[in-house]
Amino acid sequence: MSDASYLSLEKLTLAYGDSVAVANLDLTIKKGELIALLGPSGCGKTTTMRAIAGLLAVKSGHVRLDGADITRVPANKRAVGLMFQSYALFPHLSVYENVAFGLKLKGMRGPELDAKVQSGLKSVGLSNFANRRPAELSGGQQQRVALARSMVMEPKVLLLDEPLSNLDARLRLEMRTELQRVQKATGVTMIFVTHDQAEALALADRIVVMKSGKIEQIGSPEDIYNRPTSSFVADFVGFENIFPLENGKMKTGAGLVDLSGSLSSEAPSAAGLAWRPRMVTLGTGPFQGTVRGTSFAGDSREYLLDSPLGPIKAEVEASQPAHALGAGLSFDLPAEKAAPLSRFV
Ligand SMILES: Nc1ncnc2c1ncn2[C@@H]1O[C@H](COP(=O)(O)OP(=O)(O)OP(=O)(O)O)[C@@H](O)[C@H]1O
Ligand SMILES: [Mg+2]
Repeated sequence: MSDASYLSLEKLTLAYGDSVAVANLDLTIKKGELIALLGPSGCGKTTTMRAIAGLLAVKSGHVRLDGADITRVPANKRAVGLMFQSYALFPHLSVYENVAFGLKLKGMRGPELDAKVQSGLKSVGLSNFANRRPAELSGGQQQRVALARSMVMEPKVLLLDEPLSNLDARLRLEMRTELQRVQKATGVTMIFVTHDQAEALALADRIVVMKSGKIEQIGSPEDIYNRPTSSFVADFVGFENIFPLENGKMKTGAGLVDLSGSLSSEAPSAAGLAWRPRMVTLGTGPFQGTVRGTSFAGDSREYLLDSPLGPIKAEVEASQPAHALGAGLSFDLPAEKAAPLSRFV
């Protein structure tokens, strides 16, 4: 084992009865990495986490952690921590006792226990809340107790399954930063499941995008955001204008269409092209559309255009003059801005 393959999933297949939820999944995670698992509902994120934690029997394949094959090791012997969306603290125990609970189960007592709990509480900024009950804390503070409770167990890997999804937007942001800070300070390897792509982009060292029980793309946040390799990932991360390519032409509602401008060097062999709404030029260009919808989004304004190519989503600075519903507009999908997709799925 090297630190580069601290946790590896090898040809992992997971099923509920006869129904396969995750198929032949390969994934290698470095020590200290923060990985985000991203993908639509039902794609197998929780199932994958359950198998790593030992809560779901593996149908075939292997889970290796820190040099050992743990595929058949019981959950409580794996040194894998878990924090789920419902992180259920014990309501009748103080914050201190909640954090101490797992350590006591392991037989820890006295000054050693106290030092661990104190340092856990300190790491999440809750030293002054040790005697409160969970009901006397805010949602974010409860979340931090849950994080401290997991961290004091010194897991080799900490799995977080949508831990922030029942917090309001502001607390979510705060906790996101907190998680990242604790992770960097302790160096714990983390796998984080989220529905929220902004959260994945902000937090992760690498993002794993899953679809139907398989990995669709693995990459840095920059890769996933700027260089999606398939139409599925492009769509998932907000490229709303996606067309297949055929012989260097766009396949559209109006048949094969020449692109304006020239493609980047890797693009001519691509299977498709994708543009974010912000990459669409509005007001000039070779194509014609009609405004079907418009919405104001603070700094920007979004337009939905009907066009012979198909529906087009464009976004422009809100300071630009607004276009009315029904207005005819020229637009362009500039070839040089397009993200080339190697797979159209
Ligand atoms: N206990 C179960 N019994 C049978 N099928 C299940 C069970 N749990 C999950 N599944 C199925 O396995 C597939 C993957 O589910 P999983 O919970 O891993 O999805 P997910 O990616 O975590 O989705 P979400 O984002 O909604 O949490 C789905 O088709 C789901 O219906
Ligand atoms: Mg899930």
